Amino acid sequence: MNTNALQEFGANLLQTNKIDTKKKDAAFAQRFLSHLDTIEELFNYIYGDHPNRNACFDNLLLSLIKTYQDRSSTLLKKDVAKEKKGNWFLSNQITGMSLYVDRFAGSLKGLAEKLNYFDELGVNFLHLMPVFESPEGESDGGYAVSNFRKVDARFGSNEDLNELIKKMNANNMYLMLDIVLNHTSHHHEWAQKAKAGDKYYQDFFYFYDNRDIPNQLDQTMPEIFPESSPGSFTYIEACNKWVMTVFHHYQWDLNYTNPAVLVAMLDNVLHYGNLGVDILRIDAPAFIWKELGTTCQNLPKAHTLLRLIKQCVMVATPGMALLGEAIVAPDEIIKYFGTDNYLARECDVAYNATQMALQWDALATGDTRVMLSAQHPILQKPYGCTWISYTRCHDDIGLGYDDYMIERAGFNAYQHRTYLKNYFAGWHEGSPSAGALFSVNPKTGDARISGSLASLCGLEKAVEWNHTPAIEDALKKIILMQAHSMFMGGIPMLFYGDELAYTNDYSYLQDPGKSYDNRWMHRPIMNWDRNEKRKTSGTFEETIFNATKKLIATRNALEILSDFKNVTWMTPHNIHVASFIRAYDNKKLYCLFNYKSTASFITWYAFKEHGERPAQLKDYWTGLVHQVGNDNEYFVLPGYGFALLESISDTNI
Ligand code: GLC
Repeated sequence: MNTNALQEFGANLLQTNKIDTKKKDAAFAQRFLSHLDTIEELFNYIYGDHPNRNACFDNLLLSLIKTYQDRSSTLLKKDVAKEKKGNWFLSNQITGMSLYVDRFAGSLKGLAEKLNYFDELGVNFLHLMPVFESPEGESDGGYAVSNFRKVDARFGSNEDLNELIKKMNANNMYLMLDIVLNHTSHHHEWAQKAKAGDKYYQDFFYFYDNRDIPNQLDQTMPEIFPESSPGSFTYIEACNKWVMTVFHHYQWDLNYTNPAVLVAMLDNVLHYGNLGVDILRIDAPAFIWKELGTTCQNLPKAHTLLRLIKQCVMVATPGMALLGEAIVAPDEIIKYFGTDNYLARECDVAYNATQMALQWDALATGDTRVMLSAQHPILQKPYGCTWISYTRCHDDIGLGYDDYMIERAGFNAYQHRTYLKNYFAGWHEGSPSAGALFSVNPKTGDARISGSLASLCGLEKAVEWNHTPAIEDALKKIILMQAHSMFMGGIPMLFYGDELAYTNDYSYLQDPGKSYDNRWMHRPIMNWDRNEKRKTSGTFEETIFNATKKLIATRNALEILSDFKNVTWMTPHNIHVASFIRAYDNKKLYCLFNYKSTASFITWYAFKEHGERPAQLKDYWTGLVHQVGNDNEYFVLPGYGFALLESISDTNI
């Protein structure tokens, strides 16, 4: 359709659906009409030639209108407030925690009673791991959804979720939920109908009559869970067909070449927007488009789909930001923020998975050179978008940065990766780490790492060894890791239990629905009696809880730590120390992190070569004031220590 015809079509649609374009609904109508061209362009790019293009496009537009009509007055007001604030998620005053509702608090009702705990810690943003219906034992932690709109009975009811959201709102908290876009559970209604032979629903998935195409695809598609779910296809006896299952055999990949799938899933996205989600975590977006002869990851059309979703969200639920959970190579992650004409117009937020893994690399090696060598793609993040910055989440740690980054730092990539895996699995002699390898692929030699923050930092083994210096080191390492990720830029996302130094929980081995997946070792069941220990001086819980609380409060107090795309790495003067400057409004904050167990020395010149010559530096962490010395003298960072330094009086150079 040409632009005029499309605008006329859009205006008619608004009128037929009783949208008051002049007064009450003017802002929505304006958004709808101004985004219409782009929405159509993106839609046509994928579905232009599809026989159901017209009906599906109309349904998509109707879904936008309906979502707006159903949006509560509270959310409409919040939309306006967020728009006034600009990119609200760049703020230094948002700190998140990711948690399983049942393992953290029993139920949604239980969680609603725990809001004081978050307040005590300083957390004002919650990522609830998937709460919608998912079959017990085949749930992948909730990422195999059988009903996108019904809260799973193990967590409570839809009503409980609404009550929690209301209470969070009243406490000025933000909410993140997932949309599992790539697949459904094989128990989802669509999958059930497809299995029963319904052709319409078979087209919602990738069904094959024989192994011809699956065999071809298998040549190029990497396996995600090679141990527990090898291959990417599952035979379905009921209908004598093969279905694509990139993740577990019970997670069926949705077929986005069918526009009806996009429209139905977009409607779920918007439904979450109307629940009051502030940031929607789009699960596994890298996988949503498949093509023969490719890895079926990060394909251009996956980005087109995300851009289309972003446009629709901007029209119907503008207060909801989008997070793309793309845990892929550094050069690929950055593309989820959009490129070219769509720069900063795709996902608003992405996980800084590269930086997370690099911190683990530095911790295991005591050397920050690989971290530095990998910064280029990370720093390409456009202004207006931000990271989730984290040390641990519910998933494994993938050493996903590129080999050339390791080699540029002077190491052999294969040996370096082998060392890291052995170190974290605790196999390397003297390694204090108590993790485990996850998804070992004997064909490629790849493996990722499971384990809680505390266990990977050495606390579990140190306690076993009853070795006080090792315990002290482990505690320092936990704080160092959290500090670095919090001050590096982006929204800090803690993983529940880490704020209390929880070590691995091996109870999952007794549960047949979980024992095949060792990621459960770092998904603890909270013990609220034990959590009381945070109030007892000298316990690990108290040390780590208070340090985490202080880190959050320190970050909240320093606006310079908002994500103004203001990270500049300092020239490395010491390979053990990661150091960067956060700059804003004529101010500079020097952030230094020592990944070595003993003290590191940094020449004072390091501070002077960045255009100013501070005479005194105040450390926001220790409260100490340092007199800046001569170039041949040193600032000393204790083992596994860090500093946040601001100049409190400058002298001209
Ligand atoms: C995401 C989730 C992970 C899950 C996968 C499949 O990567 O974080 O836990 O297994 O998607 O849904």
